[in-house]
Formats: sequence, structure tokens, C-alpha cells
Amino acid sequence: MKRRSFLRNAVALASAPIIPSALHASAAQDMPAAPAHSLAFPQGFLWGTATASYQVEGAVHEDGRGPSIWDTFSHTPGKTYQGETADVADDFYHRYPEDVALMQRLGIKTFRFSIAWSRVFPQGTGKPNPKGLDFYKRLLDQLHSAGIEPYCTLFHWDLPQALQDKGGWANRATSHAFADYAAYTVGQLSDRITHWMTTNEFDSFIDAGYGSAESAPGLRLPRGELMQTRHNAVLAHGLAVQAIRAAAKRPIQVGLAEDISGAMPAIEDAQHIKAAQTALREENAQYITVILEGKYTDDYLRTLGADAPKFTDEELKIISSPIDFLGINIYTTREAVPTDAEPGYMMVPRPSSYPHMASDWLFVNPQAIYWTPRLVSETWSKVRTLYITENGCSSDDVVRPDGRVLDSDRVMYLRNYLSQLQRAVSEGVPVRGYFLWSLLDNYEWSSGFSKRFGITYVDFTTQKRIPKLSFDFYRQVIEGNAVV
Ligand code: BG6
Repeated sequence: MKRRSFLRNAVALASAPIIPSALHASAAQDMPAAPAHSLAFPQGFLWGTATASYQVEGAVHEDGRGPSIWDTFSHTPGKTYQGETADVADDFYHRYPEDVALMQRLGIKTFRFSIAWSRVFPQGTGKPNPKGLDFYKRLLDQLHSAGIEPYCTLFHWDLPQALQDKGGWANRATSHAFADYAAYTVGQLSDRITHWMTTNEFDSFIDAGYGSAESAPGLRLPRGELMQTRHNAVLAHGLAVQAIRAAAKRPIQVGLAEDISGAMPAIEDAQHIKAAQTALREENAQYITVILEGKYTDDYLRTLGADAPKFTDEELKIISSPIDFLGINIYTTREAVPTDAEPGYMMVPRPSSYPHMASDWLFVNPQAIYWTPRLVSETWSKVRTLYITENGCSSDDVVRPDGRVLDSDRVMYLRNYLSQLQRAVSEGVPVRGYFLWSLLDNYEWSSGFSKRFGITYVDFTTQKRIPKLSFDFYRQVIEGNAVV
């Protein structure tokens, strides 16, 4: 029963006059039968949670792990909230058995995690470090024995520092180093992992890392160099797709996880939908559009002029190597409206009263999770399998005196987004699974521990885990395969 009708019934019952029970019965017969789950998902829909190596693992000096750019950045004064680092984070490196037990309690069928490149190749290239890989083998075995399918991201922002010392993603050699790391890792782990993602959110590690300096490595490259760095990153993805297929010891699925930039129609009519579709291609020209279409849009290249990336046809072919699925990270989006002038759309500036969650960038926009997958599947028909590889929110969680964390705002956020996802899936948009960000509160990059995204509260002093109200909500969603 949906909560609203439960409340309505509860109120009605409380104030109902006493009438003969036969009347009750005939009134009940006149009521149309409510469907068991009007917000149900199809059978086999995959429920999971997502995370990333640097944000949870800790153990930054253990078993031969090399430093990454996030170690350097977080230890540089003034870069992160109160100088916080992920040296310990959730101590997942040691506590993963406890956390896998928590996943079992939640009922998830799949877990998205990332591998720290510098655990496998401490220097980014050269001699691999078997002890680093052993950690992931232990984790994967634990997941499998709990009946949980791992989905693996090869790069979630923690570039080996040794590669940054040679220019990082601004150096084309890093693209090839990434493909080599991918090939080696897949060769070692494809017996345990079927679903592989190359990269997570290009603009978060390229534009924020090499453009606005908000993220590691904290650089502000001139525009032309930044555009070439973007190109190196999509090239790295394409090279890795090919390397993964060649290295896999059994059939695997390859994709990537992208936070596809807005757009949704500000109003649901034909003109606005068209504007949003145009916006989708143009606003993502540098990343997902070139990956799926094998070319940069004319508008992108024209706008950049002399700063446009230099590339060859051969590179475009590599970048657009076929993928098996596309992961979309969805937190929010922006509205598009049609314009008479080229390019035919305008992104609506955010009014200052637009509601947001605890992170000031996280505007509440549940329709994002309906429109983004729908427009992606309508625009690029070759994308036949989609996953929501991240969705969730930050809340100002507090532990009450009775020890509970009642994050009703996160439940509100999730319920609204999942309802819109259900709409998409029931209309035939090919989303096959959903990974909630995140199982645990963790290290939120430059926000340090000041923003909590978990459905499990973590006391970072004691490492105690407290499942929140949203944990119970999500457990019931999974159990019933429907929005509750
Ligand atoms: C996603 C990232 O963009 O957003 C996650 O893939 C991140 O790694 C999440 O934790 C929340 O973002 P932030 O910047 O508030 O930590």
C-alpha cells in the first residue's frame, strides 16, 4: 500500500461512524482493487550500491600501494575541508567482511566498487604488485560467497602520482598506461568479474582536476591544453575497451559510468523535448557524444576554434569502440527551453530558490532520473542496456540520543527519484539496474567527511556503522521490488 493511501485510510477509520458490518463489506466491494504494487519494477531488476576505492579503503600505505594524486592533493594544506584526508576513511580495506555482511542484510544483489590503480601498479606502469591485487581477490571472493555480483570501475579518480609527475592525463602516454593497467587487471580478475567500467565521470577528474583546480591534481591548464586533456581521457577509455576485450579470459561486458550533463525539458511538450535532446548531444559533446557517435559535434569544434583538440580519424574509431552498457550517474539535471537562435536550446539558469540537499550543488530534481535515460536511449539507439551507476544524496544526519539516524529527507529524495525511475522503466527505457550512492558515509573528496551520502552512518572515530532510516527504506524497496 502506498503511504498516502495508508494515511487516508487510517484517518477515515479513526473517524468512521459505527455501521453494520454488511455495509462495510458492500462498500469494500465497490472499491476498485488497488494493484499490489503500482510502482513495481520488472522481475530481475538489479538493486545495488556503489562506492570508490579512495573514498572508503584507507590503508594508503599498506601492501605496497603507491601514492595517488588524491593522497597528494588531500595532504596539501587548503585543498580539502579542514585538511581531511582518506588515509583511514571507512577502513574498508580491513572491515570489508563486516560491510559485505551489511550488504547481505540490505539485500543487494550487486556491488559497484573501484580498483585503486596504484595498488596494482604502484608507479602506474612497470612492475605489478601482487599484494595489491590480492586485496581485491579477497573482497571478490567474499562478495561471491554472499551471493553479490561485483561491478568494477577501473578508474575512479585516484591516478598514480608517478603518472601525474609526468603530466597525468595531459600526457597522451597516460592513455596508453591506462589501457595496459586495464589489460593486466582484467587478465587477473576476469574469472571473478563480468561487468567492467573503464572510467567514472570524465568531467569530475578532467575539468575539475585540470581546469577549475577543485579536485586533484588541482591544476588550471590553459583552455587548449584542457581540451587536449579531455581528448586523452576519452582516448584512454577507447583503448581500455579494446584492451579489456582482448585480455578477458571469458565473456565479459564493458561500459563506463558517466554523469551525463543535463538536460530535461522544462515543460513536457514536443518543442521542449526537442530542445532537451539537442542540449543532451551538445552539452556532452566532449565525452559521451564522441564516444557514442565517433565524432565531435560541429558546434563543439566551432566554438573552441583554435583551442579545439587535435585528433586523427583512427583515434575517433578507438574512442567509439562498441560498449555493452552505459552507466549513468544521476544526482540532478538542468532544464532546457527552446530558442529560435542556434543551437535551438538554452539551459535555464538555476533560480536561487531551487531546493537542494546538504551539498549546495545537489539540486532536487527527481525527473532527472526519468529524462536522462529516456533521452539517452532515444538519441543513441545503439545503447541497449543502461544502469543507473550512482544516485543518492547528502543529508545533515544526526545520531539521536536513542542511537537512531532518522534521515527522512534522504528517504524523501530516494522515493521521489525511484518513482521517476519506475516511470522510465515501465515505459520501456532499458534501465536494468540501480546502484545507490552509497552504502556507507565516506570521504567525499574535497568536502572531506563534512558531507554524508551513506544509508549507513559511520562514526569516523570508532568506525561504528549505524544503518539509517534510509537503509530500512531501501531494504524494503529491494525486498518488494517496488517503491515503498
Ligand atoms: C559522484 C562521484 O559524482 O558524486 C562520487 O562519482 C561522489 O565519487 C559523489 O562521492 C558525491 O559528490 P561529492 O563531490 O559531493 O563528493
